[in-house]
Amino acid sequence: MSFVVVENVGKTYSDRGSRTGATVLRNVSARLGEGEFVCLMGPSGSGKSTLLTILGAMNHPSEGKVVIDGIDVYALSDERRADFRSEYLGFVFQQHHLMPYLNAIENAMLPLATLRLGAAEKRRRALAVLEKVGLAGKASRLPNQLSGGEQGRLAIARAIVNDPPLVLADEPTGTLDTKTGGEIMKLFLDLNARGQTIFMVTHNPANARLAHRTLHIRDGALAPESDCPREQTSRTPADGLDSELPALMIDRSGDFDSLSGKPFGD
Ligand SMILES: Nc1ncnc2c1ncn2[C@@H]1O[C@H](COP(=O)(O)OP(=O)(O)OP(=O)(O)O)[C@@H](O)[C@H]1O
Ligand SMILES: [Mg+2]
Repeated sequence: MSFVVVENVGKTYSDRGSRTGATVLRNVSARLGEGEFVCLMGPSGSGKSTLLTILGAMNHPSEGKVVIDGIDVYALSDERRADFRSEYLGFVFQQHHLMPYLNAIENAMLPLATLRLGAAEKRRRALAVLEKVGLAGKASRLPNQLSGGEQGRLAIARAIVNDPPLVLADEPTGTLDTKTGGEIMKLFLDLNARGQTIFMVTHNPANARLAHRTLHIRDGALAPESDCPREQTSRTPADGLDSELPALMIDRSGDFDSLSGKPFGD
């Protein structure tokens, strides 16, 4: 069974002054296997962020459904869907959305706010994820005292502090230089190597080549996967990433069918 099933999803945003509204997703169907790393590419305005927020249980589709780990996400009540989000999902936003008046550890702790854990345990968990992203030494800095790459890493720390099985990331390397973007990519590959399923929007073909598969979207519709260029499914390390990457990639390769690029048993 697939871990994530997107079935015939459509999205029409109601448009003031228009009867019909703007249709930004049409009949989108896709599946992600558990432990898969899948990238989503497409031109600006093609519906990538919309699809990601629909997968992230925070944007109701107009049609179709999203099933994650057997749970029909939008059939849940709002309250149960909020619980579902905090249990299953980590979301890295295109604009990070860090709280400017909270320091790094407080930002990283935010998703833990509603959990019944003591304050000390929440700090311990937040510090552990800051360590994972290399920011333990900067726990008391405000976001504006961090570089762009560090802010990106903090956004990832916040997304994974709940240890979610599914991480959704919207262009996490979009605003970064090649080296810093490479570090962020390495972090995602590392998370994926530890079993987290990752779905990432990217404009960078070098990032996409590091994923198991890449989906392509245009004008709100996914291209059939067989139309994707073959190179997109290979997992050659990108230029500019350091030499630890190939070992990481080889470690992961056993989980997937190397011909179809799909997980076994899907
Ligand atoms: N809340 C909204 N209300 C109305 N229209 C919206 C809303 N959010 C997005 N759109 C429109 O939906 C379309 C797809 O937007 P979306 O943000 O999903 O694109 P994207 O592929 O992520 O683009 P980019 O690469 O620029 O981030 C765009 O035309 C956008 O203007
Ligand atoms: Mg977007």
